[in-house]
Amino acid sequence: MKTGIIGGTGFYDPGFLEKERDLLVPTPYGDVVLKAGYYQNREVLFLPRHGEQHSVPPHLVNYRANIWALHEAGADFVLATAAVGSLNQEMRPGEIVLVDQFLDFTKSRPMTFYEGGDDGVLHVDLTHPYCPNLRRHIAEKAAELKIQVHEKGTYVCTEGPRFETAAEIRMFQMMGGDVVGMTSVPEVVLAREAGLCYATLALVTNYAAGISPTSLSHREVIEVMSRSQESLRNLIYGSLASLPETRSCACAGAAAELGTLGLKKND
Ligand code: HPA
Repeated sequence: MKTGIIGGTGFYDPGFLEKERDLLVPTPYGDVVLKAGYYQNREVLFLPRHGEQHSVPPHLVNYRANIWALHEAGADFVLATAAVGSLNQEMRPGEIVLVDQFLDFTKSRPMTFYEGGDDGVLHVDLTHPYCPNLRRHIAEKAAELKIQVHEKGTYVCTEGPRFETAAEIRMFQMMGGDVVGMTSVPEVVLAREAGLCYATLALVTNYAAGISPTSLSHREVIEVMSRSQESLRNLIYGSLASLPETRSCACAGAAAELGTLGLKKND
């Protein structure tokens, strides 16, 4: 079983892989370069979502190429990190939330691998968008490592790249949102279409607009992210090292109604 790690803002370098090498994966959506290597004899595929220099904004990330490449390179599990603002006073800057639901407020992103025609049409089930088994595994690891996490939370995904208005944040609170970020959708949706077990470790970097007493800045997000890296990394390393050898959830069969995992092959 291979594990993909998608590093979000402030997490550009795996920094822990042995025998690390670049792996070029051609996809129908463009080439992707993964960092492939090993952690405690487990094969790991690392991908910085925004590029190594944070040069790709959230609305322009090539989500389909990224998830395709991880699937093509053989990943079964994907652990993603994400910087988020908090709408919930109990989720404080520096804390980790294992989000279990999302509200989608994106506007312009390709959302599916299944564009009709030969690709077929897939209405994928997302009742539980983040793999419940993988989330449980990470939560158990966090308890073992004495890293405090919030075991669930609703991620509001905005289009970005701007931050939100105070009125938008009030609306998201009324709708039940806990944290806000710009990248989980469509990443989590595509991961399910590709049959991957996907979970997000969301690190709260700030209180959201109108809750924070100061205006928001990308620099603040990066600073808090780098201050709080250690527990995030430890939780990823710990979870990675003890992932099960088989999967018992429904994620792998998400595209089964098309009779196959369904992804087109390049050849
Ligand atoms: N809003 C959207 N995305 C974010 C935020 C925020 O407040 N903080 C970190 N990523």
